[in-house]
Amino acid sequence: MSMYPALRLRRTRSSTWSRALVSETHLGPQHLIWPLFVTSGQGVEEPIASLPGVSRWSVDLIVARAREAKALGIGVIALFPNTPRELRTDDGREALNRDNLMCRAIRAIKDAVPDIGVLTDVALDPYTTHGHDGLIDATGYVVNDTTSELLVGQALVQAESGADIIAPSDMMDGRVGAIRDALEEAGHINVQIMSYAAKYASAFYGPFRDAVGSTGLLKGNKKTYQMDPANADEAMREVELDIAEGADSIMVKPGLPYLDIIRRVKERFEIPVFAYAVSGEYAMIEAAAAAGAGDRDALVLETLLAFRRAGCSGILTYHAAHAARLLNG
Ligand code: PBG
Repeated sequence: MSMYPALRLRRTRSSTWSRALVSETHLGPQHLIWPLFVTSGQGVEEPIASLPGVSRWSVDLIVARAREAKALGIGVIALFPNTPRELRTDDGREALNRDNLMCRAIRAIKDAVPDIGVLTDVALDPYTTHGHDGLIDATGYVVNDTTSELLVGQALVQAESGADIIAPSDMMDGRVGAIRDALEEAGHINVQIMSYAAKYASAFYGPFRDAVGSTGLLKGNKKTYQMDPANADEAMREVELDIAEGADSIMVKPGLPYLDIIRRVKERFEIPVFAYAVSGEYAMIEAAAAAGAGDRDALVLETLLAFRRAGCSGILTYHAAHAARLLNG
């Protein structure tokens, strides 16, 4: 028996160049999707209290953010509107208005920065008075098929305005197929669908609801359409269906507590998988850093790298611009 270890795994870790040489995972700004909140007015920046460092921007200033994203090497921005209270209705019909905040923002961005990808959320919650992602019946139940019809209309006005990736986040059954059909029929054959196939009814969405102004509005919860955090097999069925209906890529949401789902989807379906590092995850890192419990930059980069290691093609994160700055050195 030798008195030395047969293998020394520390050998390849012993210098910077060697660690870089054997690194299995790469994270770059091109893997990041930057979510931006749009609000009304001109020259308006509204900081969001529950998301320190994140603001809502009026359309003119969103364009500046798109230029910034491009300069940082971020390929895609995701848009969410803070619809004025007076335009919210029970049926969320403002979602179908070709001149709503979302559509105006898409057009302004595509005019100014044509080669940045624009991803748009499809769901009615920023437009409804009750804060749900769809239409509700007298009992408060979110009805599936009529909601889907509205979502198709919403996706079409977004595509007509220039959206590159339609991202249904509503969890209605059958909506990916319905949206795909409508896009094809309207000639938007290269508009992609990134389906939030596995979206969980999560406690991590709090600050987002604040950001899109639906915090005080939401009646009840979203458990009859978003998934139970206890389930993983069911996520595979959701993904399988959405792929069959024409999804080009899959989103898992939230991110960090669901890395197992990301890995399972990647191994089983071999389709591009994305993680949404949601508002509560962002707030958690910011709070930890502010409390001195960890180094902010290191926490941000480690969590983003973990998503890549788990199998993600990319990550939608409120830390996108900050992380891109760090990655660009
Ligand atoms: C709505 C939507 C939500 C988020 C993105 N799209 C909220 C919800 O489902 O209630 C949350 C994102 C975040 O927390 O960052 N369809």
